Amino acid sequence: MKIKTSRISPSTQLFRFGKPYKTEAVILNTNDLSFTETEKLPLFKCEKTAESCKLTYTMNKEQCIFGLGESVGGINKRSHIYRMWNSDDPCHTEEKASLYGSHPFFIISDENEKIGVFIDYPTDFQIDAGFTRYNVLSIEIPSENFDLYIFAAGNELQIIREYLKLTGTPYLPPKWAFGFQQSRWSYPDEKTVTQVADNMAAAGIPCDAIYIDIDYMDNYKVFTIDEKKFPDFKKFTAKMKERGIRLIPIIDPGVRIEKGYSVYEDGVKNNYFCKEADGKTDFTAAVWPGLVHFPDFLTDQVRSWWGKLYRLLWNNGIDGIWNDMNEPAIFYTPRKLDAAKKKITEQAINNSWDFFEIRDSLNSLANRRDDYSEMYHFAEDEKNGSINHKNLHNLYGFNMTRATVDEFKKDFPNKRIFLLTRSSYAGAHRMAAIWMGDNQSWWEHLLLHIQMLISLNICGFFYTGADVCGFSGNVSNELALRWMQFAVFSPLFRNHAALGTRNQEPYNFDDKTTNRMRHFIRTRYKLLPYMYTEFVHAVKNLAPLCTPTAFYDKSPQSLECQDEFYLGRSLLIAPVHQPNAQGRIVYLAENHPYLHVRLYNNELEDFAVIQPGNFYMKYSTDEVAFFIKENCGIPTGIIENDGKTFNTIEIIAFVSSIGTASYYEDDGETNDYMQGNFFQIDFTIKKDENNSFLIQADKHGNKLPDIKNFNFVIIDESGSIVRLAFAL
Ligand code: GLC
Repeated sequence: MKIKTSRISPSTQLFRFGKPYKTEAVILNTNDLSFTETEKLPLFKCEKTAESCKLTYTMNKEQCIFGLGESVGGINKRSHIYRMWNSDDPCHTEEKASLYGSHPFFIISDENEKIGVFIDYPTDFQIDAGFTRYNVLSIEIPSENFDLYIFAAGNELQIIREYLKLTGTPYLPPKWAFGFQQSRWSYPDEKTVTQVADNMAAAGIPCDAIYIDIDYMDNYKVFTIDEKKFPDFKKFTAKMKERGIRLIPIIDPGVRIEKGYSVYEDGVKNNYFCKEADGKTDFTAAVWPGLVHFPDFLTDQVRSWWGKLYRLLWNNGIDGIWNDMNEPAIFYTPRKLDAAKKKITEQAINNSWDFFEIRDSLNSLANRRDDYSEMYHFAEDEKNGSINHKNLHNLYGFNMTRATVDEFKKDFPNKRIFLLTRSSYAGAHRMAAIWMGDNQSWWEHLLLHIQMLISLNICGFFYTGADVCGFSGNVSNELALRWMQFAVFSPLFRNHAALGTRNQEPYNFDDKTTNRMRHFIRTRYKLLPYMYTEFVHAVKNLAPLCTPTAFYDKSPQSLECQDEFYLGRSLLIAPVHQPNAQGRIVYLAENHPYLHVRLYNNELEDFAVIQPGNFYMKYSTDEVAFFIKENCGIPTGIIENDGKTFNTIEIIAFVSSIGTASYYEDDGETNDYMQGNFFQIDFTIKKDENNSFLIQADKHGNKLPDIKNFNFVIIDESGSIVRLAFAL
């Protein structure tokens, strides 16, 4: 059987099966196609019928699988089944195959060979990564139309770079997004939001953003603001911004069916909503507002209409948006609800199975795959002018993101958008950030946060994070502390909780716990110069911010390590993620010593040089610890009393011969950095024969630096410390 092929780059090849739907995940041109036989497909055995395709690859014992973005499982994704089907499923237990996003890019890797695979196909398919048979990776696509990309660049980082060249440069949020963010469902009104800000301030806890969940709206009608709750929204957002706090309102795609509500009326009048099979009736389902219609984001016209609706918020001084429920989530459809009600009232209960059936008839209404078969999009190039939603389900959130971002860019061509979105598909990483959805206050989900940070970074979502302390359920003090302690290193650091759960804002614990959380958050601000420098470096170099140690060290222990990662070029992070632990074993990879740094009071009080290999690290809940790699330095801020700002950078460096450290700044808000309007200073720290240190600086960019003073704290391999100062 013949398929088409094209060489995208010397190391990347496309294999085109049939006539795939153009998802827009890929930004490079893929036109130049020639024919080949499926038998000639590298790596995979291909079994193809008219409706489906099964690709199988035989793995050896050592091979790991990295990537697959938002999914459960470890850093090594092997031994699990994944289903590419965006789902609103709030119970992320081990056996779940689908979460809110689908990112079908992964790397099969062992010491000898590294292969990247990306399947560009917009709806349900399965990747069995050695679950059914440990040595077989099988990909089953229920269609003959999809694109398969195979990357054969030398190592994992090069493969990721090729993938990102294909799908786009990762999203860079504004700088304030790296600060601490507080959220809860819900802070419904001005008074509550003010109270949150006041409480933070009174507790000495810096915070850059507060989220406002669905209750700020009038009756959950998107693009409305309840004036009883926010009498002068514009004035209020300005007042909050003066205090250094941005408000981030939520927007869901479901438009409440209500006469006189302009978004609904416009949508109906202009045929902007998804339809039923007849192509005429607007498809109806229930979400938070009750019965809604869903915008048909597939068309330019609807995206442009929707994107402009955000002006209500931008014009009120809003700087960031939170797009939610865009799988789209469906609680029920009226038809299925009626059928379930009928069953409950009419079916006799003769035995327990009848009872279970009746009980489940309501329970199974939400997040049902078959609901999506009843929903249609307008599609000009399709035969009957429409396309069934189930055929491109994973693109719904992606296209809502496009709608938001594209119109924002027209209104604010040079401004970086802050957009957090729940549902996504491959390629969305170039437009917005995602969070990891409705997790629980479980220790397992703290670990999942760590692991997903890596798998999402591999797929280009560098700026991401989970609901810190957990969304559903009540968090224990200990878990809250451990989660906040880890999240100091999570690019998105947002504490968010569900309605009805324990109040988990940092000030809502006993004094001792709050004091520790204050320390964690202030430490985040202290480390922000490093985080931001490394983040921008990651974006510019198409190299993930968070990477597994296994990318650099193929020792068996490193390959098995599922709870450590490198953050940027200089830090190894090893969080405690288990209850009742006083510390943990850390595997120090790459056969060089590390500097173990423990911060108790935002200062470098406690450090030790640790040799590579296994190390039992004591890690209490009143410190923040990390490891600096040999010959690396990290820029940190000497934080002022506000817990947030700084005028001097302190470079903490661990140097045995020649070390490097970089510090980067830009305006934090615009894309001017692309035109050279940034300041970067790259230091080389050389140790000479007399054990003294020489510092050299290389400056780049056109921006005048905000920071002029750099203090150096340099520790060598014997643990001796030298302090130096450098001024611009
Ligand atoms: C969804 C979101 C959650 C939000 C809630 C209410 O469950 O994932 O973050 O708080 O809806 O809007």
